[in-house]
Amino acid sequence: MKIQENISLKPYTTFGIDKKAKFFTRVSTLAELKLALISAKENQSPVLILGGGSNILLTKDVEGLVIKLEIKGVQVVKEDENHLWIEVGAGEVWHELVLHSIAQNWAGLENLSLIPGTVGASPMQNIGAYGVEIKDVFHSLQAMHRDTLEIQSFDAEACQFGYRESVFKQSLKDQYVITSVTFCLSKTPAFRLDYGAIQEVLQANGVQHPTLREVSDAVIQIRQSKLPDPKEIGNAGSFFKNPTIPSSQFEQLKAHYPALPGYPSSEGIKVAAGWLIEQTGWKGKRIGDVGVHAKQALVLVNYGDGTGEEIKSLSEQVQASVMEKFGIQLQAEVNFI
Ligand code: FAD
Ligand code: EPU
Repeated sequence: MKIQENISLKPYTTFGIDKKAKFFTRVSTLAELKLALISAKENQSPVLILGGGSNILLTKDVEGLVIKLEIKGVQVVKEDENHLWIEVGAGEVWHELVLHSIAQNWAGLENLSLIPGTVGASPMQNIGAYGVEIKDVFHSLQAMHRDTLEIQSFDAEACQFGYRESVFKQSLKDQYVITSVTFCLSKTPAFRLDYGAIQEVLQANGVQHPTLREVSDAVIQIRQSKLPDPKEIGNAGSFFKNPTIPSSQFEQLKAHYPALPGYPSSEGIKVAAGWLIEQTGWKGKRIGDVGVHAKQALVLVNYGDGTGEEIKSLSEQVQASVMEKFGIQLQAEVNFI
């Protein structure tokens, strides 16, 4: 394990923000992770765990140790007639796992195609897309406690999954490093095609009885039509969560704005933040080198030399506009550093 000093983090987050890490290391085994955590403790350095950097906004230099997780491996650990359980190293690339599963005819991850980032980060915010969240296929995870260095197992209940939430963003924030995740996949697909434009795209592609691959391709096609590719334009996907508001507030707003998209959830009505932002006029706006994406207002972008502070400031202006027009407080989905 090599520890480097004063490393630019620009290539390591999808926003492409040029902040520095005082110390930087990559770990590909549990032993290396332990050594890295011990070294940080000895030097009293704060630690930032990094996967693919696709949900992080750097607003300052990291005055400590950045540990980039590269623990690999996909292993079938159990199998029965209908299901199989795979344990996957935290450093595996999420989309590569999805493609590998599809190639093996393992069902359950196809709607989650093309989400950037690593397997280890997937439980952090219970990643989701097109009607599926990882909690639907999650069995358990292994995590190393940052202080005691002990490995602990968490089942789904212990993870307290919610919409873009888990215990690791709440009461256990910054306490554990997720080292592997075990998923329970199906040998027979149970397709979820009712969400968004999946059905439409399958029809347009002439597909009547889809395969896992064809569903994955449809999801990829929809995503590529509206989400910017971080290799071309810096971004972290949806910058804000879709807010849930009380049904009474939804009815009042709907009376003024009949087109407001809303979906019932357990705590009220979930409304589309992208729609709210578009109505405030921010969609496609650019200030210097940062802006609001022209095809998806929920995505803030860095056109090249934007700073984390500029994106943060833009996000606050967008929040203020949505609050002023609709009385709704948008919460960030992205993790601020
Ligand atoms: P990072 O950005 O590296 O880290 C995110 C957070 O998790 C940080 O706080 C970090 O410290 C912590 N962390 C990372 N790995 C670990 C670990 N092993 N143990 C402990 N803590 C850890 N998300 C969705 O849910 N649905 C989408 O459809 C979606 N679409 C996206 C589209 C684009 C174009 C982009 C850029 C992002 C999108 N995202 C989406 C957000 C992002 O891809 C996910 O949140 C992803 O899981 C982040 O993974 P990462 O490895 O890049 O995490
Ligand atoms: N909309 C607008 N204008 C916009 C953007 C969206 O009017 O500029 C409207 C759309 O017309 C649609 C609704 O908002 O009626 C929802 O839009 P979309 O289907 O694009 O999805 P989203 O709610 O904006 C969420 C997730 C995405 C996920 C997609 C697909 C959140 C915060 N975002 O986006 O996740 O990929 O659904 O399931 O829940 C992410 O978390 O980073 C992410 C990209």
